[in-house]
Amino acid sequence: MIKVITYGSFDMLHYGHIRLLERAKALGDYLVVGVTSDDYDKVRGKINLQQSLMERVESVKATGIPDEVIIEEYEGQKIDDIKRLGIDIFTVGSDWAGYFDYLREYCQVVYLDRTQGISSSEIRSKKRSIKIGLVGEEEGRILNKYFDEANVVNGIHVSGICTINKKLREEIGERLSFVTDDYYALLDKSDAVYIISHPREHYDQIKAALLKGKHVLVETPITLHESQCAELFQIAGQNKLILMEALKTAYATAYNRLLLLIKSKKIGKVVSVDATCTSLREINPQNAGYNQIWNSICAWGPTALLPIFQILGTEYTEAVIHTYYYDKRNKFDAFTKIDFTYKNAVASIKVGRGVKSEGELIITGTKGYIYVPAPWWKTDYFEIRYENSEENKRYFYQLEGEGIRYELVAFSKAIDSGKNLAYIKENESLAICQIMNQYFEGKNIEII
Ligand code: CTP
Repeated sequence: MIKVITYGSFDMLHYGHIRLLERAKALGDYLVVGVTSDDYDKVRGKINLQQSLMERVESVKATGIPDEVIIEEYEGQKIDDIKRLGIDIFTVGSDWAGYFDYLREYCQVVYLDRTQGISSSEIRSKKRSIKIGLVGEEEGRILNKYFDEANVVNGIHVSGICTINKKLREEIGERLSFVTDDYYALLDKSDAVYIISHPREHYDQIKAALLKGKHVLVETPITLHESQCAELFQIAGQNKLILMEALKTAYATAYNRLLLLIKSKKIGKVVSVDATCTSLREINPQNAGYNQIWNSICAWGPTALLPIFQILGTEYTEAVIHTYYYDKRNKFDAFTKIDFTYKNAVASIKVGRGVKSEGELIITGTKGYIYVPAPWWKTDYFEIRYENSEENKRYFYQLEGEGIRYELVAFSKAIDSGKNLAYIKENESLAICQIMNQYFEGKNIEII
């Protein structure tokens, strides 16, 4: 029996794929098809597949051509598969000609002519593109990144920018034709907006966008009041619109794996989550005033709160805030520490734009702990550590575009499918807003 193997993403299965599978099968008696996993595709730079791994596997199976379907998960797996399954022929389309010659050491390699005029990328790009408008005065770094990342994601393009920041207008304006300070004019030109204005302005801007039928991706925190956030989610739901919190760490692969490992009890029961995020960059209140710049709790609080609420839940019994002010009148904190008490656990965050500390995340469990080195919020690496250090494990996952790219992909998929695919649940977003509310209302807060 001659065994043949072929690999591919097989996204939105098309005629070219079917022809390839038929010819691959005709090369022998038994065909194995390797479908690439979502993670492996991310590593290969294919981040915007439209279908999940399971959907792709199902459609390959449904052709009735393969005898066996396997998942391709890691670099170098092809050699393992060929040996393990006793493969005689490896085959792929001619777009890969020469690339897999190194497999000739293990089996015969055949490149089949690629079918002209069709590809998954082409089908994906023909889909209606979502026009996203960028909004905000932020110093420019993040908006610029969103602009660059939006250009990488299939199915999204930037319709314009709304800002009163002159520097930003000049910088981004060079590359964009529509630059305005009129928010409503931008909304008219867009299907969706990404908002990174000061959190104080979020509520009005989000509401205006939703009421005009536009989807919203908003920099975290969504609002400074829990009740406002709940109202906005309700408006979005009623109007079948997507309202998503832009908190890029939630979309980082390493962070998501870490959550899964905790769920599978790798470190036993979690008793403490401690997260620190600081950035000591020059703050220049002369330009905008302290009421315009993001204070420490707004800039870093949501990121630091994310692992706490996602690991221990949002039902804490108490949160005590300790704050060191730069500018008390405008509630501009240089540093804030929050101590949480849960029924059977504790947690803490330390955030600051006027202090410097080690930006690490430590999750303490009854069997061991997880250590994520600084800067943990954009990590590609973490360790599980045990009493017996020989049992320690290291985990590495590639992170592209600080997570912004994956976040934009999730946003565009959510819009296409009409389902909220956010990695942050509504109750977690609400809990973040609740902490913002507590801070600004000065409840249970100690000044240091
Ligand atoms: N293939 C083919 N003819 C096409 C498209 C793909 O023979 N018109 C083959 C590829 O050479 C590969 C297999 O089908 O052996 C799976 O390819 P895949 O990368 O999943 O499909 P593409 O349409 O090329 O996807 P993309 O546009 O995302 O690269």
